[in-house]
Amino acid sequence: PTIFLITPTYARHAQKSDLTRLVHTFKHVENLFWIVVEDASDKSDLVAKLLRKSGLRYAHLNVATPKGMKIDLASGDKQWSKPRGVWQRNEGLRWLRETFNKQAPVGNSANQQQEGVVYFADDDNTYDLDLFPEIRTVRTAGVWPVAFVGELLVEKPIVVAGIVTGWDVAYKPDRPFAVDMAGFAVNLRLVLQHPHAGFDDGQPVGYQETYFLRGLGVTLPDLEPKAGNCSEVLVWHTRTEKVNVFAEKRWNARGKFSAGGMEF
Ligand code: UGA
Ligand code: MN
Repeated sequence: PTIFLITPTYARHAQKSDLTRLVHTFKHVENLFWIVVEDASDKSDLVAKLLRKSGLRYAHLNVATPKGMKIDLASGDKQWSKPRGVWQRNEGLRWLRETFNKQAPVGNSANQQQEGVVYFADDDNTYDLDLFPEIRTVRTAGVWPVAFVGELLVEKPIVVAGIVTGWDVAYKPDRPFAVDMAGFAVNLRLVLQHPHAGFDDGQPVGYQETYFLRGLGVTLPDLEPKAGNCSEVLVWHTRTEKVNVFAEKRWNARGKFSAGGMEF
């Protein structure tokens, strides 16, 4: 099966460095297709060039998060109050459905042969190369531990005799699917068979994953524990520190720019 990675991304100082790190990981993975969705009303040259240079198979898409759905710290929004990447992940799902329904509508026998697994790969996480063979074996929905998330070292599914029975997490443990975006993947078949399943910014904080998996008709006993029955960490929810531009701003005020004419 092909692994389809859906990556939302947005313009910021560390965007190119974060995406460069992903390229260097993904280049080691065979049969991978990268769906990069910019949170912007236009595609940027920076991302277009990076994708071309990568040598990866990719689709370059864009959709801007509507105004009012963006976190606005200046006007008092809390850091986690609004979900990020929702519109971009939905655009990635739309592209998958459009692409594969055109080739072979659902129900058509050729469609059943389109083997793929869909994984939401945020642009600032760290992915172990051993994660990808695990993803590739997902028949319905696979789950695994994620490090550095939910105010713990590791959030993980509880697995009893090979069956997922719950969630070993501290943050909102009663969520039906208490798993970070980085902690699951679903078979492409499910995405094509449930054309309306996706993400929704009206959901309570922390419920995006639950909303999506429920939309696909996934239940707890369907979940396939990966990464050694959820005993291994193969993905880290690293977050890139905001670049300190304190002196840069002082320089800019005097008409001096440290990166004048450079792409970074
Ligand atoms: C956590 C979760 O791990 C994310 O899956 C979830 O989307 C996010 O919280 C949230 O809902 O707020 P976190 O590291 O805090 O992740 O979020 P980011 O990495 O900043 O954003 C998640 C993805 O959305 C990234 O790929 C990022 O590039 C993208 N994004 C972020 C946008 O497309 N637009 C934005 O304005 C911000
Ligand atoms: Mn992140």
